[in-house]
Amino acid sequence: MFDTMTITKAGGALCGAFLIFLLGKWAAEGLYHTGTVSHGDEVAQAYTIDTGDAGDSGDTAEADTGPDFATLYASADAAKGEKVFSKCKACHKIDGTNATGPHLDGVVDRAVASVAGFGYSDPMVAHGGDWTPEVLEAFLANPKGVVPGTKMSFAGLPKVEDRANIIAYLATLGG
Ligand code: HEC
Repeated sequence: MFDTMTITKAGGALCGAFLIFLLGKWAAEGLYHTGTVSHGDEVAQAYTIDTGDAGDSGDTAEADTGPDFATLYASADAAKGEKVFSKCKACHKIDGTNATGPHLDGVVDRAVASVAGFGYSDPMVAHGGDWTPEVLEAFLANPKGVVPGTKMSFAGLPKVEDRANIIAYLATLGG
C-alpha cells in the first residue's frame, strides 16, 4: 500500500535522476564542442543548418514558400508558356480573330475588354485598366474570383510558374 508520501518521494527521485541525466548530457556536449578540431582559423562544424537565407546560393527553387511571381516572371520561359497555352487554345486564337474568347495577340499591356467586335461580359468591361503582367497573373490564377460573372469558363492556372511562363509567352505575341 503506497501512501502519498511514498509516491511523492518516488516522483522526486525520478525527477532528480532525470535532472542528473540532463546535466550529464549538457556537460558531455560541452566537452564535445570544446574538442572540435580547428583548421587554422576555421572551426570545423559537425553539421551546418541550412537556414535557406537568400544570398548564399541564389537557388530560389528551394525556398519553403516558393519564389513570388515577380521573381519567376523575370526569368520566365516562354517556350514552356507556349505549352501551357494549349489549355487556352480551345477558346482563344492568336491570329487576330475572335473565337469563344477574344483573340490574345498583344494581350499583355492591352486595355481590358478592348477587342472590337467581341461581346464581353459586363463584369469584364467593368474591370477596366490594362492587362499588365501582374493583373493578368491575378486573373489567370482565379478568373471567376477576380472577375465575378466573367464569361470565361476556365478554372484558372494554380501554379505560379505556369502563370509566369504563359504571360512571358503571351508577351511575345504581336498586337
Ligand atoms: C472555355 C473557354 C476559355 C478558356 C479555356 C480560356 N478562356 Fe480566356 N476568355 C474566354 C472568354 C469567353 C473571355 C471573355 C470573358 C468576359 O467577357 O467575361 C475570355 C477572356 C480572357 C481574357 C481577357 C481578354 C480581354 O480582351 O480583355 C484573357 C486575358 C484571357 N481570357 C486569357 C486566357 C488564358 C491565358 C487562358 C488559358 C490559360 C484562357 N483565357 C482560357 C474563354 C476562355
